[in-house]
Amino acid sequence: MASATAIAHPNIALIKYWGVRDDTLNLPASGSLSITLDGLETRTKVTFDNTLPADTLELDGQTANPQATARASAHLDRIRHLVGSTVPARVVSQNSFPASTGIASSASGFAALTVAAASAMGLDLSPKELSILARKGSGSASRSIFGGFAEWHKGEDDPTSFAEQIWPPDHWDLVDWIAVVDRLPKLTGSHEGHRLASTSPLQETRVASAPERLDECRSALMARDFQRLAAVVELDSHMMHAVMMTSFPPLLYWSAGSIQLMKKVAGWRAEGIDVCYTLDAGPTVHCITTAEHSSQVEALLQSDADVIELYRGVPGPPAHLVAS
Ligand code: PMV
Repeated sequence: MASATAIAHPNIALIKYWGVRDDTLNLPASGSLSITLDGLETRTKVTFDNTLPADTLELDGQTANPQATARASAHLDRIRHLVGSTVPARVVSQNSFPASTGIASSASGFAALTVAAASAMGLDLSPKELSILARKGSGSASRSIFGGFAEWHKGEDDPTSFAEQIWPPDHWDLVDWIAVVDRLPKLTGSHEGHRLASTSPLQETRVASAPERLDECRSALMARDFQRLAAVVELDSHMMHAVMMTSFPPLLYWSAGSIQLMKKVAGWRAEGIDVCYTLDAGPTVHCITTAEHSSQVEALLQSDADVIELYRGVPGPPAHLVAS
């Protein structure tokens, strides 16, 4: 029996990944850029065991549903394939944040699964190779292999589509206050959503202009210019949601509380607070701020009637192995 345990962190995309060019390889329609978030984590133990009849997956203390188990199993196959193994695995995965909050656990989940399974299989892969592998489990997981600020290059094919760190965590002490405004279960997951992006008449424009927003985001981060960062982060989030809303069938991820909060965040910024928002495939509002303004933003969110729960993420470490 060979086993390994890994920890990985979710990430928040400042420039989003939405839409795939290649379904099987998970090649994205455009590049994306994110912050890997310390303060939230997935811890996954993988044990390859010849006595098991098939792969098993335990998620947050419960046996996972057949769909989630099949997705993890398909990912394990990619790793087993590299060494010609067919040994089944027992996977035990625990998130430090509740699944129903709308904080994507697929990025940290597939990054942790990739790192743990590769190590348990005796593979010594580079971060780039791990990123390529993680990408096939869940696109955003390619970025969670790295700490700090990571960019996923869309690439041309399998070996050229990977993420890399563009700045370490201490480049800029930004804070992501994650405001949960709705606890309704998500209707369409991102896995399915990516496949609908091309049905939106706006996706072509979004994809064509993504390199400009990536350049602007990188420059704003480089200069630690919050006003420029805020403008491009909110624009990119709006553009992704415009694509979601205009796809067929339409995907409306925002709830009333999300819209209220977006307006309030814009108002707080107009009053001089360094804060902006971005939303992934759900109603949760990620409020990005600076260390200097963090406690002010925290207090505003904590007393806000639309906010049900609040989590804090800061630029954090890469996915890594830990003692079991
Ligand atoms: O990696 P997935 O399939 O969970 O897709 C993530 C999509 C967004 O979170 C909406 C955007 C992103 O770049 O993380």
